[in-house]
Amino acid sequence: MSKFNVSQFRQQFAFFTHNPSWVYLDSAATMHKPHAVVEAELAFYQIANSNVHRGAHHLSQQATQLYEQARDTVAGFINAKLRHEVIFTAGTTAALNQLAFGLMHTLLKPGDRILLTALEHHANIVPWQLHCQRHGVIIDVVPLTANHQVDLEAYQQLLKLHPKLVSFSHISNVLGHIQPAAQMVAMAKAAGALTIIDGAQGVVYQQPDMQQLDCDFYVFSGHKLYGPTGIGVLYGKTAALEILTPLLGGGEMIEHVSFVNTTFNKLPFRLEAGTPNIAGAIGLAAAISWLAQFNNIDIQQHKAALLHEFYQGLSQLKAIDILSSPVHNAGIVALNIDTEHPTDVAELLNQQQIAVRAGQHCAMPLFNSLGKPGAVRCAFAAYNTLEDVNRCLLALEQAVEILTA
Ligand SMILES: Cc1ncc(COP(=O)(O)O)c(C=O)c1O
Repeated sequence: MSKFNVSQFRQQFAFFTHNPSWVYLDSAATMHKPHAVVEAELAFYQIANSNVHRGAHHLSQQATQLYEQARDTVAGFINAKLRHEVIFTAGTTAALNQLAFGLMHTLLKPGDRILLTALEHHANIVPWQLHCQRHGVIIDVVPLTANHQVDLEAYQQLLKLHPKLVSFSHISNVLGHIQPAAQMVAMAKAAGALTIIDGAQGVVYQQPDMQQLDCDFYVFSGHKLYGPTGIGVLYGKTAALEILTPLLGGGEMIEHVSFVNTTFNKLPFRLEAGTPNIAGAIGLAAAISWLAQFNNIDIQQHKAALLHEFYQGLSQLKAIDILSSPVHNAGIVALNIDTEHPTDVAELLNQQQIAVRAGQHCAMPLFNSLGKPGAVRCAFAAYNTLEDVNRCLLALEQAVEILTA
């Protein structure tokens, strides 16, 4: 077992004190928040609440400082070259919608192609469709291998069609499979394409290094990184951000407005219209600072040990159909019991206070390509224990007995 002390780690989450009998295996949907995050948001509202950037008074300047410090914390965490390359958004979905809208007006022309993969979340499919269909831009899709990994040979072939843009998930939210992101970016760049990484699941697995990944854009949500909901990040290299048409217009993002014309503010403000989620940004920065006290290698070893035990246990059960490979897996296992409906399985687990998600997990095209109607998703996080694994296995065993009797 790893050096990671899971019981000490769990003590930092009020959720587990209030819900001691629950096994929470739904962290891919949202993670619990440590005291440090809840307290940072509370402290902002109780002590420093003011709007940012526009007030002449001390309190507004203080709020601005906290908000801009949060940007610095995020920029440091992802190793962005420049602080203005961090744009605060409402989350991954908001960031991807900004990208689809913003690039459609500058980068993409009718007849151009963009490349997605078969395992994308709807948030990395639908925003493109909304605009591509109207602007005559073609979407190509990289298929998966028999092991449900992105097929790199097919990817190389599709890059020969010279897509202007490649957008893919760092880690599949359904299968947990980790994509070779740096390699995929390098291949896309060699083909002349801009690159977007959907880091909604990737950001918590391994602190993503923008300068090492070398992608043009990386997006993620705070709530999947122990932070608050309603806050996320659109990272972009300066040159890539400069070509984005703002999706939202309004206060803060302008330089000069008349009824004839508007000129825009500089980055990052040009892409942050309106009052931002100030407390959310401060909460996200608190999550990142709090996380820094733990060694990520220890955390990943702990999660790998849980995953190993889970797979071992599953191999002893009959009628379990596992969709996720244990190789290059960040801690998510999608499975079914025979052809039973995943919702029925999840309900039996729910009755035993085991929280999993069931269905298609916002990835209908992936399930079509897998030829499965859906799955139960068990998502392990750093605060899960061996006892959680064993309770889930036992509940699955009982579910098998009930459903296949
Ligand atoms: C891979 C992936 N992309 C995008 C999203 C959308 O994130 P949000 O709902 O926080 O905007 C999710 C959420 O589950 C996800 O897992």
